Amino acid sequence: MKTSTQTTRVRAESAVKQRYASAARAREAALCCPVEYNTDYLKIIPAEVIEKDYGCGDPSRYVKPGETVLDLGSGTGKICFIVAQAVGAKGRVIGVDITDEMVEVARRNAPVVAERLGYANVEFRKGRIQDLALDLELLDRELKAHPINGAAAFLAADELAEELRVTHPLVPDDSVDVVVSNCVLNLVEPKSKRQLFAEIFRVLRKGGRAVISDIVADEHVPEHLQTDPELWSGCISGALTEDGFLKAFSDAGFYGIQILKRDEKPWRTVEGIEFRSVTVQALKGKQGPCFERNQAVIYLGPFREVLDDDEHRMERGKRYAVCDKTFQLYRKEPYKSFFAFIEPLTEIKLEQAGPFDCSGTRLRHPKETKGHDYEVTTEANQCCDGGNGACC
Ligand SMILES: C[S@@+](CC[C@H](N)C(=O)[O-])C[C@H]1O[C@@H](n2cnc3c(N)ncnc32)[C@H](O)[C@@H]1O
Repeated sequence: MKTSTQTTRVRAESAVKQRYASAARAREAALCCPVEYNTDYLKIIPAEVIEKDYGCGDPSRYVKPGETVLDLGSGTGKICFIVAQAVGAKGRVIGVDITDEMVEVARRNAPVVAERLGYANVEFRKGRIQDLALDLELLDRELKAHPINGAAAFLAADELAEELRVTHPLVPDDSVDVVVSNCVLNLVEPKSKRQLFAEIFRVLRKGGRAVISDIVADEHVPEHLQTDPELWSGCISGALTEDGFLKAFSDAGFYGIQILKRDEKPWRTVEGIEFRSVTVQALKGKQGPCFERNQAVIYLGPFREVLDDDEHRMERGKRYAVCDKTFQLYRKEPYKSFFAFIEPLTEIKLEQAGPFDCSGTRLRHPKETKGHDYEVTTEANQCCDGGNGACC
């Protein structure tokens, strides 16, 4: 026998679908968290889409021209239509949502936006964001042809779903530059949260990133708040804690995770627990072999030391040996302004580089990068006065 807690949890997804089906038909004020979007992008978006805005942040600010962007829980399509303009005609946007009524509003408005824009680069697909391989419309068509009329058919349908995930994935592996989402991850049940972050990781290409706006809690949400269907669909019950949200990205294999925006003022406070919007960025791409090319980095400060996502602890001002992959990652945002980069005097070509043991942290003596027989003596470098020799 199920306890009432388990029953409520099992029905959380139904509560979410019901609430957002009705919120797609008529605007629901209780689901709105005021957000300032770039008004230039809103001009061409139909009023019906904008007024049914149930977001809590603006991840669209962080996409670039030409990128392929996936929006999780796209609702009536507002973020997709903003992103469509930000990525331009060469970019592509895919919105995924589980609620038929939301997908209907978004699809109906897509041609209107495309006509005003002069190009069509947005499409909407029906699926669950914790199972981005399963195309629910495809499964629906198959099940209409072979209805489930008993346990054997139910098990066969399960097998069919598994096959469709492989043969016709809704969103294939490594296919997206940026995954965005606005106020949706909290609506996924706790038992599927780990899979949700793994799915975001799976669909991103190496070098891609997730930029997610969501509601987080400043304290753990207690059991009795987690089992309230109204609070579930209202973006409260399923909110992760502030640090739990960041850890979920880290556990899924992301690195360089940072809070881009954190609302100081809570959106809601329930029984003393503050629920506020944050926008977090997480990067994919540190997996792969490590090669030794005699490179070094110096952490510039201001903190006395830093610890990176590979457990490399580096003290300010000291010269550390790093593998080529770490060296290249640190040369990009968000790290590059925090480090000085030291290349070896004699380059080691990647094809000739040996393996680098990335499991620990070790200092690199300057002689390793210059060469042990380096004994050059020079005059003072005429560095800062345009060559007039007056600097020191
Ligand atoms: C709070 S609304 C946000 C909608 C949209 N992102 C916006 O900014 O207006 C949540 C949306 O996520 C969808 N949703 C909730 N759980 C989902 C899931 N597990 N998979 C896919 N979509 C989901 C709902 O149908 C709804 O459209």
